Amino acid sequence: MPSQMVVFSMLVAIEMNVLGLNFFEEVLEVVEQLLEKMPPTWGGYWLLNNFPGSFEDPGSKIMINYKGLLTFLFNKFAPWDGSEYKELEPAVNWARSKQVPFTFTNKTDFWDYEKDVNDPPIVRTYLAGTLLQPGRVGKEFRAFMREQLFVGVARDLWIGCTGILLGGKTTEGSLESTPLHPGYRSTVTSLSCGIALADAESGAPLLNQTTGNNELIEYFQTFAKGKRNFGSGMYLNEPWKDDPYWKEDFWGTENYERLLLIKRL
Ligand SMILES: *[C@@H]1O[C@H](CO)[C@@H](O)[C@H](O)[C@H]1NC(C)=O
Ligand SMILES: *[C@@H]1O[C@H](CO)[C@@H](O)[C@H](O)[C@H]1NC(C)=O
Repeated sequence: MPSQMVVFSMLVAIEMNVLGLNFFEEVLEVVEQLLEKMPPTWGGYWLLNNFPGSFEDPGSKIMINYKGLLTFLFNKFAPWDGSEYKELEPAVNWARSKQVPFTFTNKTDFWDYEKDVNDPPIVRTYLAGTLLQPGRVGKEFRAFMREQLFVGVARDLWIGCTGILLGGKTTEGSLESTPLHPGYRSTVTSLSCGIALADAESGAPLLNQTTGNNELIEYFQTFAKGKRNFGSGMYLNEPWKDDPYWKEDFWGTENYERLLLIKRL
């Protein structure tokens, strides 16, 4: 681990009807530009959800209700060297033009970063993932995500995505040396999306929550399947449980056939 790190963080409320604002399209474009340009010294997360929330406007002290939040939480695994604003230029420029606050923070080491980072409390969720590929994240991807999170019945459901930037040396390494899905070597984000099940958000103790969530799970299959159009491969730790294409998505067809042959020896 490097001796120092830099953290970039920014929260963007997406729909703010009271202000007549909807940042979805432009802020997703910022994400796409970053994915194309960010050097591999940067890793971290972008998180998108359709949850409702509110905050107090610092100027007017008025409470602003919003729907949907995009969180940028990027880590540079290297000491501050002055290139940070330039490297994250699409986000920095956009934020300045909209007066959306953001911060860069120096961290002395990995623990200095990790000690304040908490996962949210346990929520029962049905997940589907894909490894987003360069060149496939664009206008159609935005339209798809908007439809799945912010249009029609989706608005009444709790849907959230975690985009994990792999960064580092993950694009290196030969494809032949391991059975890893080739999509890992080119991906720009491992995107895991999930739908919160039943009363998961109600605060009822986990073991008291209802388990009859078939309708929600069935509903989510369209999202799970459609997301594959923008990626190739799937992070095995957060897979789509009912993926009918699991051979292709987990291993890639060629690797799967080879692995099967070896298993049958
Ligand atoms: C981080 O630390 C460097 C000195 O090591 C300093 O020049 C820079 O301004 C700091 N950045 C922030 C955002 O505090
Ligand atoms: C949760 O379920 C247990 C066992 O059925 C029951 O004893 C307990 O009262 C329930 N708790 C709540 C908060 O509903």
